[in-house]
Amino acid sequence: MTTSIETRLNQKMSAPQLASDGGIRHFLGVEGLNKAQLEAIIDKAMSYFDDSGRLINTDELSGKTVMNLFFENSTRTRTTFEAAQKRLGANVLNLDIARSSTNKGETLRDTLWNLEAMSADMFVVRHSASGAAHFMATEVTPNVAIINAGDGWHAHPTQAMLDMLTIYRELVTKTNKPFDELSVAIVGDIKHSRVARSDMSALKTLGVKDIRVIAPRTLLPKGIERYGVNVFENIDQGVADTDVIIGLRIQNERIGSPLLPSTSEYFKAYGITESRVALAKPNALVMHPGPMNRGVEIASSVADGAQSVILKQVNNGIAVRMAVMAMAMRGQELMRV
Ligand code: CP
Repeated sequence: MTTSIETRLNQKMSAPQLASDGGIRHFLGVEGLNKAQLEAIIDKAMSYFDDSGRLINTDELSGKTVMNLFFENSTRTRTTFEAAQKRLGANVLNLDIARSSTNKGETLRDTLWNLEAMSADMFVVRHSASGAAHFMATEVTPNVAIINAGDGWHAHPTQAMLDMLTIYRELVTKTNKPFDELSVAIVGDIKHSRVARSDMSALKTLGVKDIRVIAPRTLLPKGIERYGVNVFENIDQGVADTDVIIGLRIQNERIGSPLLPSTSEYFKAYGITESRVALAKPNALVMHPGPMNRGVEIASSVADGAQSVILKQVNNGIAVRMAVMAMAMRGQELMRV
């Protein structure tokens, strides 16, 4: 998809995301949510950890049917959504897209309506088309919720919220440093990354003033300045004195041909290495949404090193997804009254 940033922003603004009381009705993007709403998601996610930091189970989705529709590949998002649904006590159905009637030409709308007829209360959807989740939110009946698990280049809101939860748990609570005093660098293929867009938006809403994006010009979207971020083409300058470094994968699949002539040259110029992490603040967090390409955007020694919180991000993903689904289901219940 090559829709402009402007078009995608307009789509986001028209999303019917909130119930009349300001609660979440669908979870389509972090844009349009205010600081209090993002903090409420973090607080709710925190409530799913017991005193020793282990995830708990609840019955908030007991009797509800949640369907996972992953039209695009996923390891972390799909599995943590399912783990979250089971921890909330939901009935979980996974549509096997590869064996579905999508391959016989059935439209997304018809697939949705047929699955809704099977008494679904919530759909979790990942799709390669930007705007797919928004489209579905306009097509379902008012008592059904849509959760965006990543749409094209556009948004990956639960990834952004699990990233915010990770920063909150690993930095804000441990160092007593609030979000607005943090400096966060996002390194890599910003242009094709829905994670970068959602992270930039969530960081900004939570008050982070120093958001840096680091990439060669060819991997920066047109109009990046409008996000209110500081742009660096030199990684050593970009990561200097930061509290958090978020690495991103080169998204070759989004344009159908390799984005880089040489991955080893890219690693030399933009790879997150031990010497570059040493330029950041002592104990700065190293994050990555996964899947990682070791030796392309990140060195193995950094990915597996003491400052890496990459696997903690995955665990936090379960809590955030529990929070978002429980809040959306509550929003749907309000709609019924
Ligand atoms: N971070 C992320 O979205 O990973 P998956 O593609 O494995 O879900």
